[in-house]
Amino acid sequence: MSGFWSGWVMFLVVLNLGITFFLFLWSQRLQIPTQPDGTTGHVWAHGVLRESVRKLPLWWVLFSASMFVVGIGYLALYPGFGGYRGALGWTSIDQWQRDTAANNAKIEASLQPLGSMDIGQLSKNRTALTSGERLYLDNCAACHGTAAGGNQSLGAPNLVDDDWLYGHDSLMTSILDGRNGVMPAWAPTLGRDGVNEVASYVLSLSGVNAPADWVAAGKPRYEMLCVACHGADGRGNPALGAPNLTDSVWLYGRDFASVSASIAEGRSGVMPAWRGRLGEEQVRMIAAWLHAQGPT
Ligand code: HEC
Ligand code: HEC
Repeated sequence: MSGFWSGWVMFLVVLNLGITFFLFLWSQRLQIPTQPDGTTGHVWAHGVLRESVRKLPLWWVLFSASMFVVGIGYLALYPGFGGYRGALGWTSIDQWQRDTAANNAKIEASLQPLGSMDIGQLSKNRTALTSGERLYLDNCAACHGTAAGGNQSLGAPNLVDDDWLYGHDSLMTSILDGRNGVMPAWAPTLGRDGVNEVASYVLSLSGVNAPADWVAAGKPRYEMLCVACHGADGRGNPALGAPNLTDSVWLYGRDFASVSASIAEGRSGVMPAWRGRLGEEQVRMIAAWLHAQGPT
């Protein structure tokens, strides 16, 4: 927090506490003008209701006074008084890191007996599958779907088919270190017609009907601009995460509009890295669960 905002927050805290404390004291000393019958003299409902004068109950006074002590004590110990960090040096990040570390240690300990098994064995182990499923649902389902079928609006691939952007053997690396496939935008180079032609050619590679003249015009453009990553036969390149364009599996959709949008605007799907958050042992459980869902 900058010096100005810190000072401003301190000012507001002191002002608020000051005003409340003043009201507290003032309300003890205030003398309300009292009539001989012991009321304020205010009368409602044709004399049925009268406002009497009472002292504040003792429990209320003590309770309110103790709240000042608690409030000031809290501000002395914990962050809250502008930039002052509190005598205990407590921060929410430290607390979160401690809790996460403790939690991870607990999980690691419970997974310890599974450490010697490979993914194939784990995918038949109850404990591994239960924790793998839970970890998957907590961390991955938001993007890849609860059944791991993928999400075309995010470009998150299906994880339970036999089609891998980065190759099946790279599964652990993909999860631990993350991925970011980068497909450049081609509209500036190709123009609208050029994009339509290449999109038609690309769709023809997987057997989708497209206007023959566009397909013919798109082929040389594909050969010039796209083979470096997607290959001369269009089967992609797992080293770059460039998808196979000749099958029925599509990251962003197989219709003309999606394919031409991929080509015109480019794509750049981001898969976060999980090594720091989950660690290798937990990722192995997820991989085992995925393995158990997929085709054997
Ligand atoms: C923020 C969304 C997001 C989250 C959360 C996420 N992923 Fe991904 N994941 C992606 C995207 C997008 C890709 C495609 C990356 C690319 O295009 O290069 C991907 C790619 C992958 C791949 C590579 C697939 C292949 O075909 O090679 C694997 C494996 C994977 N994710 C597993 C996981 C697991 C396991 C988790 C949970 C621990 C997870 N992902 C969480 C978005 C996400
Ligand atoms: C620098 C390498 C590179 C080049 C060059 C390249 N691409 Fe791509 N392309 C990729 C990558 C990587 C992806 C996946 C993007 C992602 O993971 O979000 C992709 C995705 C696509 C997709 C979406 C596929 C799907 O499954 O939804 C299409 C369509 C496509 N490219 C067509 C082309 C065409 C046509 C050209 C030539 C005009 C081309 N690409 C040139 C790397 C490349």
